[in-house]
Amino acid sequence: MPTKPPKSTVNVKKPLRLAVLISGTGNTLQNLIEHIRARKLPAEIVLVISSKADVAGVEKARRAGLPTEIILRSSAETVEAFSQAIFECCREVQADLVCMAGFLHLLRIPDDFQNRVMNIHPALLPAFGGKGYYGLRVHQAVLEYGCKVTGCTVHFADNEYDHGPIIVQRVVPVLDDDTPESLAARVFEEECEAYPEAIRLFAEGRLRVEGRRVRILTRC
Ligand code: GRF
Repeated sequence: MPTKPPKSTVNVKKPLRLAVLISGTGNTLQNLIEHIRARKLPAEIVLVISSKADVAGVEKARRAGLPTEIILRSSAETVEAFSQAIFECCREVQADLVCMAGFLHLLRIPDDFQNRVMNIHPALLPAFGGKGYYGLRVHQAVLEYGCKVTGCTVHFADNEYDHGPIIVQRVVPVLDDDTPESLAARVFEEECEAYPEAIRLFAEGRLRVEGRRVRILTRC
């Protein structure tokens, strides 16, 4: 009869500790909260940091009972100082992964958080990304260009806007009668699956970054 392994050798995986960075409505944060509650994401949100005080995202975080810090961008003179303040908080709560969720500012990623910061962008990078491409402006630009498809991108963040190695992309069609709002809604539906999927892969240790390419390892 097979014997049970002694308790000390049982591999109990702890939920991933997430810090979530927001600047606005917090819809992405809300989606992560719901995935975690539904047990579709093996993670816990240990800290929410908002770069703005009076935004709906802060209200959503508090309503969910999440520890929330406000670190105003204007409180720091440089990108470096702002980044230091943010990552110091992330270290204090021992975050495994930092998720930018509608976070509007550039950060300088410190060495100990390389490949441990993710961002989601509502377009197929490298198109329609970079400084100034946020919110409805992204979808407006996609429509003006006449694209037939668009989508979303989850990537590791580096020190440039919307630039680091790509983890997951999802595609949606652009329809003839789309407005920026209707397109944003269609893209957001995909974002709601793409971000949890990327975080899950990270939690499972299945992301290997090789230069700009992120290999997705098969499950053992
Ligand atoms: C999403 O379009 C996401 O791709 C981008 O910010 C938008 C969500 O903002 N990074 P929020 O979560 O509603 O504040």
